[in-house]
Amino acid sequence: MLKKILVTGGTGFIGSHTVVELYNAGYIPIIIDNLSNSNIKILDQIEKIIAYRPQFYNFDLCDEAKTKAFIAQQQDIEGIIHFAAYKAVGESVEKPLHYYKNNFFSLINLLEAYKNKPVNFVFSSSCTVYGQPEVLPVSENAKVQKAESPYGNTKQVAEEILSETAQAHKNYNIVSLRYFNPVGAHATALIGELPIGVPQNLVPFITQTAIGKREKLTVHGNTYHTPDGSCIRDYIHVVDLAKAHVAAIKRMESKQATCNYEVFNIGTGTGSSVLEVIAAFENSTGVKLNYTIGDKRAGDVAQIWGDATKSSEILGWTAELGLNTMMQSAWEWEKYLKNNAF
Ligand code: UD1
Repeated sequence: MLKKILVTGGTGFIGSHTVVELYNAGYIPIIIDNLSNSNIKILDQIEKIIAYRPQFYNFDLCDEAKTKAFIAQQQDIEGIIHFAAYKAVGESVEKPLHYYKNNFFSLINLLEAYKNKPVNFVFSSSCTVYGQPEVLPVSENAKVQKAESPYGNTKQVAEEILSETAQAHKNYNIVSLRYFNPVGAHATALIGELPIGVPQNLVPFITQTAIGKREKLTVHGNTYHTPDGSCIRDYIHVVDLAKAHVAAIKRMESKQATCNYEVFNIGTGTGSSVLEVIAAFENSTGVKLNYTIGDKRAGDVAQIWGDATKSSEILGWTAELGLNTMMQSAWEWEKYLKNNAF
């Protein structure tokens, strides 16, 4: 029988791509999403890609009674991939309680609902837990540094909650994936990132500028101690990232781990500067980008990229898609959005 995997936040950017990859790998994805930062039409788009419409439940995981009642009904779910969370760094500084309440209550409600059942659990963590690492590429053993924002702190504390829960409750197998910078879109251009309002992240800002929705991109600083002065990040294609979740589920199913809580970096292992990303966009799409150099953005680390050795050796997962494919697919999605109302 095909295994059912619950995907919270399954209509979001990374969630929707993971739903597709789970189905492609032979799983039955079931989605919970309260649509607070996603669009119900993404379900139609998923169906267009995989010719299957996943079961969808619209409720808030912060509602303890609903979450527990739902899990009690769904006896045959074997895994959970928990994406549902707030993720905007700036907003988290303005509304810390909003972030702590949402990101912790939902996580704790889910974990409590599974306290006595065996389950494989994948958590969306972030490279933000490393702050500015002293050694690059940064490995999973590097020190976790004091978070720069409430958002970052929700990831750090959530990792602690998960590690302690795994230790106390052996029915859980838990994997935290520390994502680097997810970008790009599905090769069909039917799903991708749907930022609400003005995008804060680099790649959606690039594509929206190129399509004419924004006048120009501001590069946040060119005087960092990096080869071209702009910040360096480890950009990873969202489809590669989605596949890492499938690999994490398979890792837990194989029962090869000696510990029931594991952490993996999910990046490409190489860094690209903001100016390199702009050049890759221009070269791979043939579209010139209007940009200017501006001031540094508060809270930005100068450079970070991940050591991908552990995920390659233990998860058996490696990123395959390069920066040009990331840019081309993000651009195809932006053009699709222009012609299709969401
Ligand atoms: C950060 C976090 C990441 C988190 C994400 C959520 C780190 C290392 N990463 O990503 O974990 O999930 O926020 O939003 O803390 N840039 C410009 N102009 C723009 C926008 C961005 O130059 O208009 C630059 C930034 O200064 C940065 C790079 O592009 O150097 C990437 O920025 P962004 O896409 O916002 O991601 P991070 O801040 O790296």
